[in-house]
Formats: sequence, C-alpha cells, structure tokens
Amino acid sequence: MGPETVSARGRFIAFEGGEGTGKSTQARLLAEALEARGIAAEITREPGGTPGAEAIRDLLLAPPGEGWTREAEALLFAAARADHVARRIRPALEAGRWVVCDRFVDSSRAYQGGAGGLGDEAIRALHAFGSGGLRPDLAVLLDVDEAQVARRLAERDGETSDAIGGRGETYHRAVAASFRNLAGADPQGFAVIDGTGEPQAVHARVLEALAPLLPAEAS
Ligand code: TYD
Repeated sequence: MGPETVSARGRFIAFEGGEGTGKSTQARLLAEALEARGIAAEITREPGGTPGAEAIRDLLLAPPGEGWTREAEALLFAAARADHVARRIRPALEAGRWVVCDRFVDSSRAYQGGAGGLGDEAIRALHAFGSGGLRPDLAVLLDVDEAQVARRLAERDGETSDAIGGRGETYHRAVAASFRNLAGADPQGFAVIDGTGEPQAVHARVLEALAPLLPAEAS
C-alpha cells in the first residue's frame, strides 16, 4: 500500500459531565485547537450526530405521551449510539480523523445506569451489542461544583429544560456521584478536569491532559 492509503487511526475523545459543566464549549475549543495543529477533527454530540440518532434525540428529550420507561430510555440511547458509531464515528476514526464527542457511553452509565438505577452491567451489555463496546481513547470528565452549575444553568436555560435535564436535584446529584465513581475506577480511561474558571483556562487543562495523545508540536 502506498502512503496515501495508510493512515493511522484517529483518536476518539469524549467530553462527559452533568448539565452546564461546559462540555459543548470545551468540545468546540478542542476541535479548533486540533485543526490549528493540522489534525483533521470532527465534532459531534450524543444523543445525535447522524440523522437517525438526531431523530431519536427528539424522542428522548421531548417524549411523547407519558414518557419512556427507564429500560426503553436506555435502549433508545443505545440505539442512537449504535447508529452514530457505525455511520459516523468509526468511519471517521478509520479515515484517520479525530472525533470529539459531546457525551458518549459514560453518560448512559452515569444517567441510566447510576442515577436511573439500571446498573452498569446492563448499560455495558447494551453498548457491547449496539456499538461493539467502543471506548473513547480518553473520556474527559468536566468537574464543576454544584453551586456554580446551578448559576450557569439559570443563565442558560431559565425555567426551561428537557425531559432529562429537568429531573430533580437528587437525580442530578446521583449522576455527578456516578461520574466520579466511573472515573475513579478507571484512571487510565478518564481525565478529571477542573471545569471552573474561564473557558480558555479549562481548555488549557484539557490540552495538558491530552498531551500524551497529541503528536509533538513542530517548533
Ligand atoms: P445534552 O444535549 O448534552 O444536554 P446538556 O447540554 O444539558 O448537557 O444531553 C441531553 C440530555 O440527555 C442530558 O440531560 C443528558 C442526557 N443523556 C443521558 O441521560 N444519557 C446519555 O447516554 C446521553 C448521551 C445523554
């Protein structure tokens, strides 16, 4: 094979954390920083990222009727992810592009598995079936204290939030605890980043955590 046909697999980075922790902003800043270094990067999100998965997103965030059972909810997240992984994430990685994803399977583990009570084994089984168990090269968990998150969300959402974001304080506290447990149990797979302060300051911390994955910068 000639050099054009051989490309190293791209890296897969997922941003994780509760609502209002700055994932979308950090995903964008990272994708821009990668492009600036000449690394082709795609930014995407979950639930969503493909037409099918975006349609499932609408079903999840504004459920018809009385809402989903917790099992149906977990299956819908897994179905959206399966489409996203097969149609977008894997092809991009195989073509040598980096993928920066705003939430991935660890959100299902923290929300449906932890806070929702389905347990980690069930979520991992769905992910194995739907998406071949794909893991990000690094999950970046943005850690922001509760009071600061409440302030950010009040500014961003006002009184409105979606079916999951609108769940009570107890649920979101359980989500945060669950994320911390997942990260604690897998220090290689997660980088826990202090998400407080200016976006650029947080971005600098993210780049530091990613340094081992980045090609050395030309001086
Ligand atoms: P998102 O649009 O990222 O919300 P936010 O910007 O508030 O973080 O995600 C939509 C909601 O879906 C959010 O409340 C988290 C939830 N979610 C799960 O419960 N499980 C999942 O697997 C994913 C990807 C998201």
